[in-house]
Amino acid sequence: MYFSWAFVAVTALATFGRVLALPLEGTPVESRQDSEAALPKIDPSMNPVDALQELQSAVEEAMPPREPQQGSQEVHARYRACAKRLGGSDQAGEKGLCSLPSKGPEEWGAAQTRYDDFVALHVNLTLSVHGSGLFLAWHRAFVWSYETALRDECGYKGTQPYWNWFADTEDLTKSPVFDGSDTSLGGDGELVQHNGSLGGARHIYLPSGAGGGCIKSGPFKDASASIGPFNPAMDGLGPVVLDLSVYNPRCIQRDLNSYAMGRWYTTAKLLNSEVQGRYPDQFLGLHTTGHHYSINSDNADLYSSPNDPAFFLHHALFDRLYWMHQILHPAEAREVAGTVTLQDRPPSRNATVEDILDMGAVSESHPIKDMFDTLGGDSLCSIYL
Ligand SMILES: *[C@@H]1O[C@H](CO)[C@@H](O)[C@H](O)[C@H]1NC(C)=O
Ligand SMILES: *[C@@H]1O[C@H](CO)[C@@H](O)[C@H](O)[C@H]1NC(C)=O
Ligand SMILES: *[C@@H]1O[C@H](CO)[C@@H](O)[C@H](O)[C@H]1NC(C)=O
Repeated sequence: MYFSWAFVAVTALATFGRVLALPLEGTPVESRQDSEAALPKIDPSMNPVDALQELQSAVEEAMPPREPQQGSQEVHARYRACAKRLGGSDQAGEKGLCSLPSKGPEEWGAAQTRYDDFVALHVNLTLSVHGSGLFLAWHRAFVWSYETALRDECGYKGTQPYWNWFADTEDLTKSPVFDGSDTSLGGDGELVQHNGSLGGARHIYLPSGAGGGCIKSGPFKDASASIGPFNPAMDGLGPVVLDLSVYNPRCIQRDLNSYAMGRWYTTAKLLNSEVQGRYPDQFLGLHTTGHHYSINSDNADLYSSPNDPAFFLHHALFDRLYWMHQILHPAEAREVAGTVTLQDRPPSRNATVEDILDMGAVSESHPIKDMFDTLGGDSLCSIYL
């Protein structure tokens, strides 16, 4: 179903994105490094969507002024995924990443399309870019590379949208991202009876939702994957194909589940991880809630989760929180914590800001230090709205 991929990669994103031109003037970010930005006082009982908005306002106020740039610099503003409100459509579907051939190495024989290259890279690097000092910066670079490929290779004119975790927590199927409408990323999977999922390194049991099978509606209806699964959390998902050279065409499965969302996507959790800055550990809580507990199925596979394109909207919101945290905590904004292996297994050295974030066949690789400031260089030029 390459058409579906192409359709979503370009059509859905085109309806969400927008570009904002900001005049960038003032002093460089370094001069503000030693001061903490004013943190907003947010009541943990506040609605999390409103709390996020308060944080956004604080971030916008605290955004470091800039050195004047040559001319006016275009800033790509990533927009929240609210397809219905923005509306519109795009005919460039056939040019999407899924109709372009893979540029990956021969060992990635499973990768058929350009989209698959992103999945294969993520699989290949799984054990170093999760639960490690590379995690935040690598995923920032990865989502940025995806967005850039859509623009440069598919003629996409928009910017990367994000899925607002904190909205629609009571019923994920009502989210504009997942409601199955023409501008969504497709709806839930077909109902397949299964005995829930085991997330959190198989320690946490999650009862099944009302899906589990192939995506049954919207632009991604019956969309397929080529790679994996590697580490399925959902009961019955498989068989496991632990080899990037083995092409394994099958539909992407989903089991949308609001079970954990109301428990995890709360203002208190947002503040713990975001304002009080217990990251990267607490970030992981919010992070896996989206993958494992809410979208589920293919998206809950630590290795091949990018098979479900919702991956990129999920990680864009995650990156937005990282971005907010950096601006509100300038003293920590350029720090790296952790080693270069998943939970330090096997034991490894600490990551440093000079470590290269491998983008393989997907795009150019950059050191971690180039990913800290989204307005700081040529490689990233974006803010979140
Ligand atoms: C990643 O790719 C390299 C180079 O092809 C290969 O040596 C390595 O085994 C791969 N790792 C995984 C986990 O696929
Ligand atoms: C479903 O899985 C849970 C967790 O592994 C287990 O405790 C339970 O017995 C299973 N139920 C059935 C009906 O298989
Ligand atoms: C790695 O980082 C930890 C935490 O910051 C620190 O305690 C440890 O000394 C570092 N290890 C090396 C070899 O620098």
